[in-house]
Amino acid sequence: MDYALSVRRRVFVEEQGVSEDEEIDEHDGDPAAVTTAVHVLGRLESTQMPVATARLLLDHPPGEYPHIGRVAVLREFRGLGYGRAVMEALHEEARRRGIEGITLAAQLHALPFYEHLGYVAHGDAFLDARIEHRRMDLRL
Ligand code: COA
Repeated sequence: MDYALSVRRRVFVEEQGVSEDEEIDEHDGDPAAVTTAVHVLGRLESTQMPVATARLLLDHPPGEYPHIGRVAVLREFRGLGYGRAVMEALHEEARRRGIEGITLAAQLHALPFYEHLGYVAHGDAFLDARIEHRRMDLRL
């Protein structure tokens, strides 16, 4: 968990200016104790350095798909497929759990990244942590 949080601090807190209080929540505790989220960590094969992360939230309102969020790749490792790899790992885990679809809130600049993975945007843009987002869904 510490490695995933170190990537998220670099990307969301230092790079995007999100406060630590907004960034880290009850789903980010010790994975042995917290059962509401599955976290994935991408490491370099050569050095094992953590470079990418994302999480799937398992508690969701009835009738809604579970949510993927906190998708982050260290700036110097973007465009190399690590974002796709952590998303596909969570899609696989979701399928294994019988989950039929995923919802997420995409920062506007990341819309094409999620579209490449098959997500479809809907609804108007909205602000979260002072950053513009749109809701996107994927049927697994
Ligand atoms: N515009 C268009 N296409 C994009 C894109 C962009 N901004 N970013 C990625 N893609 C495409 C890639 O070309 C690639 O396409 P391909 O599979 O057909 O080759 C595919 O999406 C996967 O790209 P990948 O290299 O795996 O993406 P990444 O490792 O750079 O990760 C983010 C993408 C968004 C996670 C990364 O840029 C990031 O961490 N940004 C900062 C944090 C952030 O904004 N997170 C999202 C919050 S909603």
